[in-house]
Amino acid sequence: MSWKEHLRPAVFDLSLYSPFDYATAPRELVRLDANEAAYPLEADELAAFQRELGKVAFHRYPEVSARPLREALARRWGVRPEQLLLGNGSDEIISILLTAFGGGRDGRAARVLYPAPTFGEYEAIALAHGAVPLPVPLDARFQLDEAALLEAIRRERPALAFYASPNNPTGNRFDAGAMERLARAMEGVAVVDEAYGDFGGATQLGRVGEVPGLFVMRTLSKIGLAALRLGALVGPADAIAELHKVRLPYNVNSVSIALACAALDEPAALDARIRRVAERRRELEAGLRALPALTVFPSDSNFVLVRVADAPAVFRALLARGVLVRNLSRPGPLHDCLRITAGTSEENEACLRALRAVLA
Ligand SMILES: Cc1ncc(COP(=O)(O)O)c(C=O)c1O
Repeated sequence: MSWKEHLRPAVFDLSLYSPFDYATAPRELVRLDANEAAYPLEADELAAFQRELGKVAFHRYPEVSARPLREALARRWGVRPEQLLLGNGSDEIISILLTAFGGGRDGRAARVLYPAPTFGEYEAIALAHGAVPLPVPLDARFQLDEAALLEAIRRERPALAFYASPNNPTGNRFDAGAMERLARAMEGVAVVDEAYGDFGGATQLGRVGEVPGLFVMRTLSKIGLAALRLGALVGPADAIAELHKVRLPYNVNSVSIALACAALDEPAALDARIRRVAERRRELEAGLRALPALTVFPSDSNFVLVRVADAPAVFRALLARGVLVRNLSRPGPLHDCLRITAGTSEENEACLRALRAVLA
């Protein structure tokens, strides 16, 4: 007997989440690979953080359900604090959802539905919990195939569905009416993942409570606060109360609570950063469209998906010129695709310059 016989079989098949190791790069890179916000915090935001850090009771556990931060986020999003669950990034929220809803019924493993290609953690976290991932291909324009999703819902009765809108890595948002109809067709929970919702205009937040089983997930990672690791789930208060039972106590730490509250206290700086990032994405998208060798997919997010002949070679050539993007190329709908996060104007220009040189 060894410990290996006790490991869930699915765990052996998982691969380690391994983003680019910046420490091994031979030179400073223009980092357009991780969909972060291009701009660091402003001096007055950092000064507020310093003040808040001085008030943190480091010898005490955090407020157990991060209530001050739930209140601040509830105000920003026009919901009630009881409708909010926070996590150590939205990755942890996905895991909490699987813990609560992934138990399976009638001896059958829980099904987790999502349109594909999409954010890889839905599949990875489902597998880690012993659930069965149920990817349904997006159509040729990377929009929802509503008929195929409805058919999968009827056939498989998924416990959970995830719709990333705007979607990563395709960049576009999905039709709101379709997501609502799909949520209504579910017995289980439909999560609209609005990680990039701040850049894409439309939100489903107003539909929570109106559409049974509809939840909205958000994150502070894309708007300048990735280091704090804060994600949020908005849902019906009775369901959120059940989820609070399965999240680990103190899952959000005191430093993140205090600093996020400080950032939300000065929404003007936060909103200005969001507008600047959205503007830089529009600039990047326009610059990419001027390169005839690229197919550019329309984006509502803070990144742009492009297709180019021999994407792996272009990825390597860009890296050699100090520009890091994400190489997503694999057989299927993402063949020869690269994902490029919007940078500052200078970073976007460096990327476009490198692309022009590589494609010449
Ligand atoms: C669609 C989507 N959802 C969730 C996340 C995870 O965000 P967090 O940093 O809050 O864990 C990402 C991160 O890239 C994402 O693209």
